[in-house]
Amino acid sequence: MTNPQSPFVQPQPGEQPQPTQSPQTRQAKPIDEKLQKLVDKAFYANGSPTAQSLRNFLNGTWLGDPLHAAITDVPLGSWTAAMIFDLLDAIRHRRDLSTAADASITVGLVGALAAALAGLADWSDVDPPARRVGMFHGLLNLSATTLFATSLISRGNNRRNRGRLLSALGFSVTLAAARLGGQLVYQHRVGVDRTSGQTFPEDFVEVMAESALETNKATRAEYNGAPILLVRRADRVFAIAETCSHFGGPLSEGSLVGDSIVCPWHSSRFDLADGHVINGPAVHPQPCLEARIRDGKVEVRKPPVAASILD
Ligand code: FES
Repeated sequence: MTNPQSPFVQPQPGEQPQPTQSPQTRQAKPIDEKLQKLVDKAFYANGSPTAQSLRNFLNGTWLGDPLHAAITDVPLGSWTAAMIFDLLDAIRHRRDLSTAADASITVGLVGALAAALAGLADWSDVDPPARRVGMFHGLLNLSATTLFATSLISRGNNRRNRGRLLSALGFSVTLAAARLGGQLVYQHRVGVDRTSGQTFPEDFVEVMAESALETNKATRAEYNGAPILLVRRADRVFAIAETCSHFGGPLSEGSLVGDSIVCPWHSSRFDLADGHVINGPAVHPQPCLEARIRDGKVEVRKPPVAASILD
């Protein structure tokens, strides 16, 4: 879902728009935005619960890590193997090697289709400027897949040399796409847990006066620079990291749904009791804290058992 509150899309009141993009980037932006809206429409299907389940699966919410990143190893590995089999076949002219090359390309094509679906689901919730990089990453992968598919057809028609040339071209394009994939993760932090690096107290510390914490209202507190989401119910205070693990959205500005919070940016939903992801696109759980009220103060700490995990 396009993030209506993305800091890249809407500058804060009084701020100038970020002049970080070249005129060419600004010119191309509507294309990736339009494309993303079309993908959004298909994947969100007017809020259908089935579509939500499918997105959860494709995002990797059930896995705890982005599914796309795991699946891309299939086409990359298979097509690398195909290149090696092709090379050996060109030297030794053995039928088993050419068969192995064809089989590797076929496995890679199946993997590429699965990776494309998972990647599209992820991309539908990516904000600028990563959105544009993601679009080119996807287009390059589509080109590579088309070249490998055409190569397989040529091989089936006994035009093996042409098939080898096409797959070599496809492999080059795959490498260029993989480079952009790396840029998406390492530069734009797509798929990276945005709560990583935040530190929370080992022992109970005061983060707010009890009188300031309204009942049934998502409230932001802070410890050592790390924002904390507090939600007071009749008999309990919930506390989880306030920074959304997906893209850093402010959960205190989200909506409460029962004992869960829905992120205002791309609608990830987290359980307040343990921070687990109920609905993606987030895949990483929110760090969960223990909270209590003592002497008119709201205090939080890392759960002792999970303390080492939260570090
Ligand atoms: S920032 Fe994307 S769902 Fe929270």
